[in-house]
Amino acid sequence: DAAEKGGYEHYMRKEIHEQPESLRQTLAGRLDVSAGDVDLDVSFPPGFLADLEEIRIVACGTSYYAGRYAAQLFEELAGVRATVEIASEYEFGAGRTPDRTLVVAVTQSGETADTLGAVRRANAAGARTFAVTNTLGSTVTREVDGTAFIRAGPEIGVAATKTFASQVATLAMLAVAVGRDRGALAAADARSVLKDLQGLPGAVQQVLDEEEQVREAAREYGDGEAFFFVGRALGVPVALEGALKLKEISYDHAEGFAAGELKHGPLALVTPDTPVLAVLTDGARAAETMNNVTEAQTRGAPALGCVSAGDTYDTLDVSFEVPNVGVVEPLVANVYLQLFAYHVANDKGRAIDKPRNLAKSVTVE
Ligand code: AGP
Repeated sequence: DAAEKGGYEHYMRKEIHEQPESLRQTLAGRLDVSAGDVDLDVSFPPGFLADLEEIRIVACGTSYYAGRYAAQLFEELAGVRATVEIASEYEFGAGRTPDRTLVVAVTQSGETADTLGAVRRANAAGARTFAVTNTLGSTVTREVDGTAFIRAGPEIGVAATKTFASQVATLAMLAVAVGRDRGALAAADARSVLKDLQGLPGAVQQVLDEEEQVREAAREYGDGEAFFFVGRALGVPVALEGALKLKEISYDHAEGFAAGELKHGPLALVTPDTPVLAVLTDGARAAETMNNVTEAQTRGAPALGCVSAGDTYDTLDVSFEVPNVGVVEPLVANVYLQLFAYHVANDKGRAIDKPRNLAKSVTVE
């Protein structure tokens, strides 16, 4: 067991640190930066993408948050309406055209019963289905019309870490491919996104090199009564994922919000004992988010922010620097939140790789 953990005390920390390499695998041979295109080795019937009315993403837990990130990319890069449904809640629903709908199931394991149920309902409705998964030969791959593998390698920790990063990277490539095919994305714009993706493994490594700073922050703020994670735009799914990671492994109360929602209710819970963690990067409407963070600080809450390199917010209690990689900056910020969750949980002596009541793969509905 110790040998398999490669010197790390937990699989989760090992898998967090594997992200530069797993992301390289995800991207390997798939980016054609000079042409502004992507080769994911997937195909659709002629004319299907051009006529596409909607991409509907179905997923659970962390994969659902990867889907929330991706939906924004599909709208921005592929010019197509994109919606995300929690798989257990998904129904094909009224007002939609099955043969102009692509249902994308995002599932690390490919075995999640709720997600398989959603795929079966989509197939029964006559929609085209597609899977984004880590697992070759998994059940989902046999039930969909097409698959893209995220190639993150095996993930043992119950808390998903490297697979989230690879899911978002794969979906970002799919968004570029669909955008190019539909003529919705200019080559120059595609090139800029692909360059950001190329920079992703190195940017994640730079964050990992700052682990000591996160360890100290976890020590200083880890005893909070509750933790609130906020962001806007691409920062919202990262805030939600940051909160899920912390609650899952530390058993602390943690919630993620769209930053603008704080003042519509959650602010009532904010006290000097409720640290606020914010995504303040490109793609996450940082300046507006910071206004909401200030509202929480006025109520005494300590504020920790993941901030784009080059920006400064003097009032933050802790500022984690995120390298400049455009549309994937919030994804890089997420690595700070993974490390924060890990160190808070580790300081409390929690069963990090096997949190109570949870299973890696949830095969019951
Ligand atoms: C994440 O840390 C979780 N353990 C969980 O939410 C997980 O992402 C969810 O069960 C979905 O799993 P899947 O990606 O294998 O479908």
